[in-house]
Amino acid sequence: MIYNFDAVIDRSNNFSAKWSEMDKKYGSNDLLPMWVADMDFKTAPSVIDAMKERLDQGIFGYTTRPNSYNESIVNWISRRYGWDIKSDWIIFSPGVMPSISLIIQEMTEKNDKIMIQEPVYSPFNSVVKDNERELVISPLIKLEDGSYIMDFEDIESKIKDVKMFILCNPHNPVGRVWTKEELKKLGDICIKNNVKVISDEIHSDIIFKGNKHIPFASISEEFAKNSITCMAPTKTFNLAGLQMSQVILPNEEDYMKLDSAFARLDIRRNNAFSLVATEAAYNHGEDWLKEFLEYIEGNADFAINYIEENMPTLKVKKPEGTYLLWVDFSKTGLTDDEVAKALIEKGKVALNSGVSFGIGGKGYQRINLACPRPMVEDACNRIKVAIEG
Ligand SMILES: Cc1ncc(COP(=O)(O)O)c(C=O)c1O
Repeated sequence: MIYNFDAVIDRSNNFSAKWSEMDKKYGSNDLLPMWVADMDFKTAPSVIDAMKERLDQGIFGYTTRPNSYNESIVNWISRRYGWDIKSDWIIFSPGVMPSISLIIQEMTEKNDKIMIQEPVYSPFNSVVKDNERELVISPLIKLEDGSYIMDFEDIESKIKDVKMFILCNPHNPVGRVWTKEELKKLGDICIKNNVKVISDEIHSDIIFKGNKHIPFASISEEFAKNSITCMAPTKTFNLAGLQMSQVILPNEEDYMKLDSAFARLDIRRNNAFSLVATEAAYNHGEDWLKEFLEYIEGNADFAINYIEENMPTLKVKKPEGTYLLWVDFSKTGLTDDEVAKALIEKGKVALNSGVSFGIGGKGYQRINLACPRPMVEDACNRIKVAIEG
């Protein structure tokens, strides 16, 4: 390995939400943070170098995006997923969740029905309610072996009058990388019922061996025209603090609507660092990503082995993608509240409680594995202490 993912970096003083906001949620910052989905690794050196060069210019006025910015996105998506998009389908946005919120505002009306699949990243639930739309939940089906599938029968039975579907592809927290067949079946149901799909693909680069990310919109022209894809380099390269993402909108009418909404808010410009970081990541970050993926899959294998050998009451299934591990604590004999209390007070470790992901989350905890392996081992030891006795 060229890159040192084992290096433990002290983030306690770098104004990190993951490290310094635990007191708000868990009552203390004296915990090992395995919650918020960012990483405790330095980003790719190509990104750091580009940002240093930008910093050395010392001038941080309004930015303008060169054509090469969108080209780096077009080429990345073509190389990584074989989807050929056009530069003029791309809209810059400071984040995926702001995009989803604005799309809801622009493309649906108050009280319209919007469907999501729980358990899922909790802002999907709140962004619908906060925008005064009606939430329709189709829970995922959990199989005997701990993996998850979509409940197409349930979706079909509830989709009448639904206007929009928010898809998590790949899925946070259950770690599914949806197959082409699954996406096609879902997309066909949505087209038949006139339901627009937002495909949140922020985790699309974090895919484990034997799996392949399929952009929802890449399946057919009809799917492309009926969907809005949200992607970003932020999870992949640990850049969430720079605030950038891209919305991909092959439907011209929808593009115009959303583009003018961003214009109205006057948030169409990158900040000086996200401007250079995006291009550096997409054009020169691939060798770093290759090693990162090997390392992170190693973390998943390590944690799963540890759990199987040392904590037989916990059940876990290896994710197909994302750096998040979805662990079933329901056989520990403890309630969710007791597990949460034990993790904080005995284990001194911060995980995301499953109930925060909605229906189907009861009994689960989510562990963020995007950190040096010694930290993963430390977290496993702490969880063991928490649930023992
Ligand atoms: C599925 C999903 N979507 C969106 C986000 C947040 O994206 P952003 O910070 O660009 O709003 C996350 C962060 O964890 C996520 O997991």
